[in-house]
Amino acid sequence: MRQPALTTLASFKALESHAVDARHWQLRQLFAHDAQRFPSLTVDAAGLFLDYSKNRLTSTTVDLLLDLARERGVEARRDAMLSGEKINITEHRAVLHTALRLPRSKSLTVDGQDIVADVHAVLDHVKEFTDQVRSGAWLGHTGKPITDVVNVGIGGSDLGPKMAVLALRSYAHPRLKMHFVSNVDGHDMDAALALVDPETTLFIIASKTFVTAETMLNAGTARTWFLKTAKEEDLARHFVAVSTNTEAVKAFGIDPANMFPFWDWVGGRYSVWSAIGLAVALAVGYGYFSDFLAGAHAMDEHFRSAPLQQNMPVLLAMVGFWNRQFLEAGSLSIAPYHQDLNRFPAYLQQLDMESNGKRVTRDGADVDTPTCPVVWGECGTNAQHAYFQLLHQGTDVTPIDFIAALRATHDLPGHHDSLLANCFAQSEAFMTGKTADEVRADLTAQKLSADEIEALVPHKTFPGNRPSNTILMDQLTPSTLGALIALYEHKTFVQGVLWDVNSFDQWGVELGKVLAKNIHAELTGEVQPERHDSSTNGLIVMAKAAQHI
Ligand code: F6P
Repeated sequence: MRQPALTTLASFKALESHAVDARHWQLRQLFAHDAQRFPSLTVDAAGLFLDYSKNRLTSTTVDLLLDLARERGVEARRDAMLSGEKINITEHRAVLHTALRLPRSKSLTVDGQDIVADVHAVLDHVKEFTDQVRSGAWLGHTGKPITDVVNVGIGGSDLGPKMAVLALRSYAHPRLKMHFVSNVDGHDMDAALALVDPETTLFIIASKTFVTAETMLNAGTARTWFLKTAKEEDLARHFVAVSTNTEAVKAFGIDPANMFPFWDWVGGRYSVWSAIGLAVALAVGYGYFSDFLAGAHAMDEHFRSAPLQQNMPVLLAMVGFWNRQFLEAGSLSIAPYHQDLNRFPAYLQQLDMESNGKRVTRDGADVDTPTCPVVWGECGTNAQHAYFQLLHQGTDVTPIDFIAALRATHDLPGHHDSLLANCFAQSEAFMTGKTADEVRADLTAQKLSADEIEALVPHKTFPGNRPSNTILMDQLTPSTLGALIALYEHKTFVQGVLWDVNSFDQWGVELGKVLAKNIHAELTGEVQPERHDSSTNGLIVMAKAAQHI
């Protein structure tokens, strides 16, 4: 059934008039007038705690936002996704990354097949293989245990495993060094190969489709490099594949016994839970990998069953929608106050922007509101000393998600309190700001002259009233990491439902791929570069001249 345009819904109109009043709200005042603001605008789920009280909204706003979620059919669409309906309508696929973390005791039938049994058969293979590599029983072709693992993949076949391996660094195997090569730029592979020894290196060729140009080129380069010192029959000890495309894996020369399959109902950016997570399982071991899946499953269960008022992914999505729609926030900054979550902003960029960076509804009509904000970020406290200036005093309002663990996974004294102090101080500063009168009082106490004070006041005033969420966990563990990723996956899903976009395709990346193929033929001299604009032609000519083509 065709969905009505979002802006025509009664609940949207109610929010629109509410937003007229909200425009004048000051967070400082909202806190001053409501002693219960923190307990009423916070929620717990699956080992995570979300404080969304430092957003420009009240409980009434939340009620109106949840009315919109209901009127838009978020619950029905969630149930459709979880039950395996083919909600990815442009690719005619189910969307079942949640099935990858279902316990073995469950079942879910898709097209007549119990996919939970399939998932656990692959997990069993992952366990067997990772146990062998980790224990040293899996030997390279000259009889030495594996010391280095190179994951070759891009997009979802890189960002998820890379982010998770880094995040779970404290759980990693001491012998296995993990490397990730994604870029078609040979400098990436060159840097990795410089660090590893072909006798003790395992390559994971990770690609859902096994046709992605970057990955295929990198995989071929890795194989050529390996075969300089080894024979074809040695490949089986050093190359494994993770893919949905058995034929292409075979054609590449990888033994199907060394292939870990997954399924077309797993989107690339949702695939870290599948065998695409092989690098994670190798690094931390199958037990911790299971905990990672279990943490995500706990969030899935919460998302499926919690009332909307206490449903963390729904609340995070609705607050984000409020900021995007009514505060016109064009970007969302992610600030993990945890160095091991260094790649989490990059991971979220793909998750959110590839999912909801869309401009037409599922029916092909133009979306009548802005959709996905630009997602970006960097770890605190580094970010504070780089771009937080703009967030505090720039002309745009940028909402921020602060993410922190209450307890560290290291035992170095003096660091963690300092880290948390900075995290909490920043969210407080963004919220309260500093008024001109407060600045005047400070400068007067420093005994500056009246003229000096008035010259400095505008520069030292902070507008404040800048929204943020804070997401806390006890410690960054496999389980809390799983829950954190699943939280953002479901948040992305809910926002996609509000905008009525298909969050599970990514046609926007195709045009550049086709043009790159054409230009590649021109750069290598197979075809003359005549078909472009003068800029593109000029750039091609420069590159050819530099490379004497
Ligand atoms: O081109 C975009 C994309 O399809 C992503 O969605 C995906 O994660 C990435 O490329 C890699 O794809 P594959 O795993 O098939 O190599």
